[in-house]
Amino acid sequence: MKNKDLKQVVKEKYGEIARQSKDQAEQSCCGSNSCCSAVDYTVFSEDYQNLEGYSPNADLGLGCGIPTEFADIRKGDSVLDLGSGAGNDCFVARAIVGDSGQVTGLDFTDEMLEKANDNVKKLGYKNVAFVKGDIEEMPLPGNQFDVVISIVS
Ligand SMILES: C[S@@+](CC[C@H](N)C(=O)[O-])C[C@H]1O[C@@H](n2cnc3c(N)ncnc32)[C@H](O)[C@@H]1O
Repeated sequence: MKNKDLKQVVKEKYGEIARQSKDQAEQSCCGSNSCCSAVDYTVFSEDYQNLEGYSPNADLGLGCGIPTEFADIRKGDSVLDLGSGAGNDCFVARAIVGDSGQVTGLDFTDEMLEKANDNVKKLGYKNVAFVKGDIEEMPLPGNQFDVVISIVS
C-alpha cells in the first residue's frame, strides 16, 4: 500500500473512533483494549483520570503511556502534541504550563479536530489550539516549541 493510501486508512479509522464512545474506541484496533494484538496494552492506559487537567470528553481510551509524565514540561512552556486526537494530552499539558504557557495539538483527522475544538471551547482555554496537518509535513514554523510530545499509533 502506498504511503498516501495508508494515511487515508488511518484517517478513516480515527474518524470512526472519534464518532464512537470511549468503551467502543478502547476495543478498536487503535485502542488500549484491542483484540487485534496478543499484547496487553492496558497496563499503559489507565491513569489519566488522576491527572490534573484531565478532561473525560477528550479521553477516547487511545493512550498508551502518558507522555506528559516524562517530558519535563514546565510552567510557561510552549508544547506541541503530535497526533493530538480529541485533546487528551493537550489538556494535561495545559495544566502544567498554566496560563503563561501555550499548547498546540496537531492532527490530520477532521473528526478528531472537531472533537478537540468542541472540548477546548467548552473548557474555555485561550492558550490551547488545534491545527490540522500531517506530522510529516507540519504546517508550523520551526523553533517555536520548548517541548514536543506524541502518542501516534
Ligand atoms: C493514538 S491517537 C490519539 C492520542 C491522544 N494523544 C490521546 O491520548 O487520545 C493518535 C492520533 O494521531 C493522529 N495521526 C496519526 N497519524 C498522523 C499523521 N501522520 N499526522 C497527523 N496526525 C496523525 C490520528 O488522527 C489520531 O488522532
